[in-house]
Amino acid sequence: MPDAEVLFRQVERALQKRWPLMDDQHQTALRLFSGFYEGFPEVVIDLYGSTLVIFNYHEKPVVLRPLLIELQKWFIQKFPWITAVVHKTRSLRNMPSRLGVIRFGDEHSLTTQIVEHGVKYAIHLRLNQDASFYLDTRNLRGWLKDHMAGKSVLNTFAYTGSLGAAALAGGARRVVQTDQNPRFLEVARATYRLNGWPINEEDFLIGDFFKVVDGLRRRKQLFDCVILDPPFFSTGFNGEIFLNEKTLPLLNKVRPLVAHDGVLIVVNNALYMSGAGLIRIFDEVSQSGYLWLEEIIPVPEDVTGFPQTWVSPPPVDPSPFNHPTKIAVLRVARKDRAAAS
Ligand SMILES: C[S@@+](CC[C@H](N)C(=O)[O-])C[C@H]1O[C@@H](n2cnc3c(N)ncnc32)[C@H](O)[C@@H]1O
Repeated sequence: MPDAEVLFRQVERALQKRWPLMDDQHQTALRLFSGFYEGFPEVVIDLYGSTLVIFNYHEKPVVLRPLLIELQKWFIQKFPWITAVVHKTRSLRNMPSRLGVIRFGDEHSLTTQIVEHGVKYAIHLRLNQDASFYLDTRNLRGWLKDHMAGKSVLNTFAYTGSLGAAALAGGARRVVQTDQNPRFLEVARATYRLNGWPINEEDFLIGDFFKVVDGLRRRKQLFDCVILDPPFFSTGFNGEIFLNEKTLPLLNKVRPLVAHDGVLIVVNNALYMSGAGLIRIFDEVSQSGYLWLEEIIPVPEDVTGFPQTWVSPPPVDPSPFNHPTKIAVLRVARKDRAAAS
């Protein structure tokens, strides 16, 4: 039997640390409870505006369901402004449960946009198994907003385009978003509309990563910044591949697209790849003298857990990164010193 007392106690402790992150207009997206690290590994609770998203990771999800319904009631009482609650279940084969079942409110009361660092992002909470907008890369979006003024950016594996959108919000002169799934890029377009940005269709490239990158290379396109955030697993043009185990070949694949003095941003979310292991890969490539690790971008504390709420470590040590989602900014130099196109 799941221990209700433990769950409620840990969630309450976690909430104490989240108060300062919540806003009166209920437009923020944040993790309210990061169960893996905060003492109840089968549950993660995210807030997207006024919609609560409860992830049930129990291997037999029905076992947890009554408890999560209790928890939902508790949240609605505590936060009467909640308009909807979605429950997502990871281990069920049943796709609708994975995409999310609305257990409070209805289709019309689901949040469709959030605000982060003053930027509006369209979200589609039941588009995919996650909630269409990643919370662990919030600081990377902040970094892109702060560093991309006047730059050109290629966002590979763009998904709903939030990283590219952050760069545009920071004044990037051009952002190319590429993903194999047109439905995901549609959410990126919705974000552009929310912010009043023009949509240049030639900057939305739908297709397999390997084909798209080859095409850009053939056309000798160079970018000031290339973002590489591959999924754990992909069934694309090259067959089924565990992309996150292929950091080095993927990095080498996109590297020729980075202009002289540009940056390559690598996001690696392989739970079982250690931080030291990833650093070894960077060390190997930096021996050429043309690429080096410049900065590590930490994952925010609502996702990692706070020092006061943190109970268990990730299965593999991510240090010097602070979370299994490892985010690195690599600086790139080119022999030909070619500038961005
Ligand atoms: C982990 S998500 C990327 C997250 C994204 N960078 C963000 O911040 O929201 C992975 C994305 O890779 C895309 N993808 C998977 N395999 C692909 C492939 N072979 N070519 C192009 N895109 C692919 C998926 O459609 C999905 O949108």
